[in-house]
Amino acid sequence: MAYRVYVTRRIPEAGLKMVLEACEAKVWEDEVPPPRDVLMKEIAEVDGLLCLLTDRIDAEVMDAGKKLRVISNYAVGYDNIDIPAATARKLIVGNTPGVLTETTADLAFTLLMASARRIVEGDKYTRAGKWRAWGPTLFLGYDIHHATLGLVGLGRIGSEMAKRAKGFDMKVLYYDAFRREDLEQSLGVQYVDLDTLLRESDFVSLHTPLTEQTRHLIGARELGMMKPTAILINSSRGPVIDQKALYEALRDRKIAHAGLDVFEVEPIAHDDPLLSLDNVTVVPHIASASHATRSKMAVMAATNLLAGLRGELPPNCVNPEAWGK
Ligand code: GLV
Ligand code: GLV
Repeated sequence: MAYRVYVTRRIPEAGLKMVLEACEAKVWEDEVPPPRDVLMKEIAEVDGLLCLLTDRIDAEVMDAGKKLRVISNYAVGYDNIDIPAATARKLIVGNTPGVLTETTADLAFTLLMASARRIVEGDKYTRAGKWRAWGPTLFLGYDIHHATLGLVGLGRIGSEMAKRAKGFDMKVLYYDAFRREDLEQSLGVQYVDLDTLLRESDFVSLHTPLTEQTRHLIGARELGMMKPTAILINSSRGPVIDQKALYEALRDRKIAHAGLDVFEVEPIAHDDPLLSLDNVTVVPHIASASHATRSKMAVMAATNLLAGLRGELPPNCVNPEAWGK
């Protein structure tokens, strides 16, 4: 008998096809996530769930899935899933690391450059017909080359940021809960504590997962330590920054600019005060959004799902201890 699965959003064809060929699958077709009551109902009879970072999968949802064996997350981050609860229920959870590393670093670096050189402000100004003449002080920004980049987190994505920074002759500092001496020489990065990183960096870019330790890692105290000319980039998870404190720091010009792909609550409300500021560049959580990468993520999420359904350990499993227990 075919496996029954629920897919919480239409994912790129390459992965969806694999799921549809192997399973009796139901796909939520809307562009916003299924409401919780729908999810609870749909999960009741399925063996597997393919979900997105916009779906909160907690113990209650898991318990509604009486036959559920595998949860495959279409994302590398899995803070939307209660992993200890999944493990306790012998539910294996898959994610999509690796395939999105460079694409995500590309976007983080894009935000860094766009913020430093005021690309979005300049675009709006030009289109609005405000440009009257070439000006010696028109849209002055900050140099990227030879500046100091502070990476908070030197995992896969942070390491790719370091490589990009080297092409711009940047000095690269990093802080990570786990010092990566093995990478320091090859990447040309220097380990410092978080306070030193904040004080010395011209650009601070966040590359940590969201955990209890990293929630509000960057708050008023940390923003207060940064240079008034510094630029903060976040392509990790919104709650790593205390967004209210960030709004105040940007409003009061305690730091120069922020480039944000992620927000404490997504989507950010269109009347959020943060969006009233000129010195913030925002995009709608698109760091992994290249045609090629989103397809690869779909194939990986499908592969994890199908392996889990067959009783195999998914190639990318975040809680292997749940398997075969
Ligand atoms: C996107 O944010 C992801 O975690 O893949
Ligand atoms: C996530 O993929 C990371 O290790 O940065």
